[in-house]
Amino acid sequence: MKLLILYFSGTGNTDYIARYIEKKLQKFPQIIEVKLQTIENCSPDELKEYDILCFGFPVFELNSPAIVRTFLANLTPIQNKGVFIFCTMGLWDGNAIRKVAKPFQKNGYCFLGSQSVVMPGTDGLAMLNKKSRYVKKALEKDYKNLQEIDKFTDRIIDIAKKLTSGGDIEDLSKKPPFKIASTIIGPPFHLLYLIMVYFMKKKFHATEECTFCELCVKNCPVQNISIFEKNIVFGDQCVMCLRCIHQCPAEAIQIGKITLGKFRWHGPLGDFKPKEFSK
Ligand SMILES: Cc1cc2nc3c(=O)[nH]c(=O)nc-3n(C[C@H](O)[C@H](O)[C@H](O)COP(=O)(O)O)c2cc1C
Repeated sequence: MKLLILYFSGTGNTDYIARYIEKKLQKFPQIIEVKLQTIENCSPDELKEYDILCFGFPVFELNSPAIVRTFLANLTPIQNKGVFIFCTMGLWDGNAIRKVAKPFQKNGYCFLGSQSVVMPGTDGLAMLNKKSRYVKKALEKDYKNLQEIDKFTDRIIDIAKKLTSGGDIEDLSKKPPFKIASTIIGPPFHLLYLIMVYFMKKKFHATEECTFCELCVKNCPVQNISIFEKNIVFGDQCVMCLRCIHQCPAEAIQIGKITLGKFRWHGPLGDFKPKEFSK
């Protein structure tokens, strides 16, 4: 059974979880042949090669990031394939899993299960003092044993076993989770976030600490950053993943003044390098 772990990660949390899942599933080569890929390096057409997808994303504004939504809008219709969905979040995912499941279901995928996992909020981290309690907690958390993800991978293995022994994928499919509270609290929260993000996007700039190493240009998942006449220029396609801010070696990229001198996150183990995935 061929399974693809397909995901987007702005700053390393979802990448860490995707690799964690991969490592667990690799222990069952007789049932699952697993591959790991980011949506930045995958065209939706490639998905037909796999029996099961395990799709991961970070929650942004109680939804998936715009880059994920664009990818999902271009899915190709398929039959008898299944999808598991996982997301990482700082606090609250609302109905993000359900929103991501929808385009999959519309294109013929059977929804097989999901898992949300709380990780450090990378939006807040970039605005917090390096010595704050939240930063300390994020750095000290035990990322080696994530019980909810262990249970999630057990469920994936269990379903893969059932499918390889002739089980019908439609019988195994379920309804995506629905949180009624999110339909009430979600919209005002979402509106507030949208307003904040609208103004924040206009305030991206590089300070004079910038060494023009071009890492931000190479790393941006939507090619929104360029260099023009010794200036770092931010276009209007930003998906707010904050990768440029957290990855800049000179900590030169800022949103106005709120990120100046504040903490930078390099993933749960401090080793996230998005460009390792370049083809
Ligand atoms: C622009 C932005 C919006 C976010 N919105 C939410 C949110 O609505 N709810 C939440 O729980 N976490 C939110 N987060 C936190 C991220 O979901 C969380 O840190 C995630 O693990 C980041 O994953 P990544 O490192 O793979 O990008 C947001 C982060 C960013 C950058």
